[in-house]
Amino acid sequence: MTASDTKNQPARAIARPNIALIKYWGKADARRNIPAVGSLSITLDELATTTTVAESGQDVFLLNGEAETAMATRCFAFIDRFWSGDRPRLSVSSDNNFPTAAGLASSASGFAALTVALDAFFASGLPTERLAQIAGAGSGSAARSLYGGFVRLDAPTQADDDISLRPVAVPADFPLAVVIAITSEQRKKVGSTEAMQRTAQTSPYYSQWVAGQDADLDAAEAAVVARDFERLAELSEWSCLKMHAVMQAARPGLIYWNAATMACMQRIRELRDEGCRVFFTIDAGPQVKAVCSPGDAERVSHELAALEGVRRVLRTGLGAGASRVAIER
Ligand code: DP6
Repeated sequence: MTASDTKNQPARAIARPNIALIKYWGKADARRNIPAVGSLSITLDELATTTTVAESGQDVFLLNGEAETAMATRCFAFIDRFWSGDRPRLSVSSDNNFPTAAGLASSASGFAALTVALDAFFASGLPTERLAQIAGAGSGSAARSLYGGFVRLDAPTQADDDISLRPVAVPADFPLAVVIAITSEQRKKVGSTEAMQRTAQTSPYYSQWVAGQDADLDAAEAAVVARDFERLAELSEWSCLKMHAVMQAARPGLIYWNAATMACMQRIRELRDEGCRVFFTIDAGPQVKAVCSPGDAERVSHELAALEGVRRVLRTGLGAGASRVAIER
């Protein structure tokens, strides 16, 4: 079958969220959504977004089966930016098997799945790195979900360039488990895009944050390649705490943590002192992601679930990059 045979046929893709160990925070170009710093992430398994694109009487975006107007505007602006020209009206149906907008990177898996489904629908046949760049224009972290395992994203060094991406290790190279402690199910009050802008404009530490990033990326990549858990733990917690420090110093300061977030961080450090291979990372939300060796995941889940304010825990391993899924007819 040639590419033109499949054009405008319903297409489906799956993508999983990823969690940055070396964090992305700040934009070099807000219009193109180009990050000011690179990042290094792990793609998760089990949690997933599945998105189906099909021709329809009108443009409609469904999230978990319900029409979403705010997301529809963002979704169709994205489609028209990269697949402009004469296109049919589309229905885009996206399903998450995990809570949306609770700091679990639903925009990352969402834009990654959408991009792969659109590439298939329009039979564009774009290479993975180009799909990652397109997904990244939708949401910076989404670029990384095109790849599985450990992924490095580098920010461009020249103004007009794009991001570049590189898988650093596959899940089997360095198996890890992730325990996510959910400490709140509420939607966050300030989204990442607005929070990054406020940080860049008002935090006195922002330029230092940007200046230190390449050294952190190189060190973390070397730790992954060497399978050095302790070194990766130290670098990841440092990147997370630096990112939160720079945003806490914005005006007004951005505080995404609650009491249970802090309790989890303390308990994870105690567990490490007791010999567990575990470290924490936290994004722009109150959930705590405990990255650990698979053999310690049971204990870490149990310990975090027992803390006051932890509503529930999710457990997963490392997973694959976004891919197309066949639609049964
Ligand atoms: C804290 O990718 O959600 O999770 O590009 O504005 O959509 P936009 O931001 P987004 O930011 C993610 C920030 C982070 C850190 C990370 O994932 O690297």
